[in-house]
Amino acid sequence: MSKPDSLAQIGVVGLAVMGSNLARNFARNGHTVAVYNRSTARTDQLISDFGTTGNFLPSKTVKDFVATLERPRRAIIMVKAGPATDAVINELANEMDEGDIIIDGGNALYTDTIRREAEMSAKGIHFVGAGISGGEEGALNGPSIMPGGPAESYESLGPLLESIAAEVDGVPCVTHIGPDGAGHFVKMVHNGIEYADMQVIGEAYQLLRYAAGMEPAEIAEVFKNWNEGDLDSYLIEITAEVLSQVDAETGKPLIDVIVDAAGQKGTGRWTVKAALDLGIPVTGIGEAVFARGLSGAREQRNATIGNLPGGELTTLEALGVDRGQFVEDVRRALYASKLVAYAQGFDEIKAGSDENNWDIDPRDLATIWRGGCIIRAKFLDRIKEAYDTNPGVESLLLDPYFKGEMGDLVDSWRRVVILATQLGLPVPVFASSLSYYDSLRAERLPAALIQGQRDFFGAHTYERVDKPGAFHTLWSGDRTEIPS
Ligand code: 6PG
Repeated sequence: MSKPDSLAQIGVVGLAVMGSNLARNFARNGHTVAVYNRSTARTDQLISDFGTTGNFLPSKTVKDFVATLERPRRAIIMVKAGPATDAVINELANEMDEGDIIIDGGNALYTDTIRREAEMSAKGIHFVGAGISGGEEGALNGPSIMPGGPAESYESLGPLLESIAAEVDGVPCVTHIGPDGAGHFVKMVHNGIEYADMQVIGEAYQLLRYAAGMEPAEIAEVFKNWNEGDLDSYLIEITAEVLSQVDAETGKPLIDVIVDAAGQKGTGRWTVKAALDLGIPVTGIGEAVFARGLSGAREQRNATIGNLPGGELTTLEALGVDRGQFVEDVRRALYASKLVAYAQGFDEIKAGSDENNWDIDPRDLATIWRGGCIIRAKFLDRIKEAYDTNPGVESLLLDPYFKGEMGDLVDSWRRVVILATQLGLPVPVFASSLSYYDSLRAERLPAALIQGQRDFFGAHTYERVDKPGAFHTLWSGDRTEIPS
C-alpha cells in the first residue's frame, strides 16, 4: 500500500462488495479513502487485494476511522439497511462534529432516512440518504447516484460524487435530488420501475418461448436486435446475455436450470406501499411485485400446476398468427408497457415530492438515470425532453412524442394481450398496463356505479354530473334524492 501523507477526502464504512467497490472507485479517481469494516478481515482483504491501486487509510475502530478524515468529514455507510445502519450512524455521530457529513448509500426506506436526517440535524451533522444504483459493477466503474439531504452538504460532497459517477455526454449521473428522504425515495421508485421493466422483459421472453416456440439462444438474438432500437437499455442487453448462457454441467440453456422463483429484497414492495398511501396507481410495478410473490409461492404452485382447468396451450399456427408479426407485436407490447411503468413511476415521484415538499425536478432523474443505473435506457432522453417541453405534463403518456409512440404501439399491444389470454400464458404487466392506459382514456369509468353502491349501503353520498353538491338517494325509503 502506498502511504498517503494526508487525511482522507472520503471514508467508506462497510466493505462488502458494494462498499469496497465504491472505495476502489474513489481511490482510482485520485481520492484518499478511509476504510472501515466491523470485522477487520474485510478491510485487510481490500488492502491486500487492491491497496496498490490507490490511497487507502484502513482503520480498526470507528474512532480511528473518523480521525483519518479531513474536515468536513465525509463518510459513506454501505451496510445492510435497517438497524445495522442506525448502529453505524450513531457510532459515527459520536465521533463527529457539527458540519460533518454522514451519507447512507444503502437501499434505506425513505421514511427511515427522514427520521435519521432529523436526528442528525439536531446534532448539527448533515445526513445524506443517497440512492446508489448500478450494482457491483456500477459501484466500481460509475454508478448513478441520487443524494438527498441538506442542499448545502452537496457543495462539499457533490464534486466527490461527480468524480466517481457514470457520465453520459460529459454529464455526471448524479445531482442533489432534494431534502431529507428525497434521494432514497427516488431510488426506491427507480427500483420499482426496475421490477416492472424486468417483469415485462420476462413476459416477452415467455411469449417468444412458449407461444412462438423459440429457443433461448434464438430469443437472445431477438433481444440483441431489440437493443438496437427504441428498447436500447441495460436490462435488454443483459437479458440477451442471460438467455445465451449455456449451463456447463448439463449443456442446457442456463435459463432452463434456474428455479423460476424470483427473490426480492423489498424496494419494489416499498414503492407500491408508498404509492398506495399517496393514491398513485403504479399498477405495472404492483403487478411486477405480485408476480415475484406468486413465482415464489412454491407450495401453492406445486398444488396448482397442471391441476387447474384452463384449456390446452394452442399454437400461433393453429390461431393463424404470423410468427414474424407476432415477434414485432411482442416488442411493441413490451415497449408500451415499459412506457406505462415509467409514466407511473414519475407520477409517484411527483406525488411524493409534493407531499414532502421536496421540489424534485423530474428532468434531473431523466438525466442521471441515463447512465450507471440498472434502468438506464436510451429513451430517458425523451423523458427529459418531455419535461423540458411541459414541466407540468399530467402524464408522460400525454407528451407529444410518447403519445405518438403509443399510437404506433397500441394495436400490437392489444393483439398480444388477446393472444396471450387465448393461449393461457400469463402477462400480468402487459395486461394491467393496457387496462391502465384504457382507463386513462375512458370517458366514463365504472366508478359512478361504485359511488351508487357506496351510497346504497353506507349513505356515503355522490356528486352529480349536472349540478354541484353532494347527494343521497333514500334507497330503503321512497328512493327520492336529497341533498346532503
Ligand atoms: C440497483 C439495484 C440494486 C439491487 C436491488 C434490487 O439499482 O443497483 O436496484 O439496488 O439490485 O436491491 O434487489 P431485489 O431485486 O432483490 O429487490
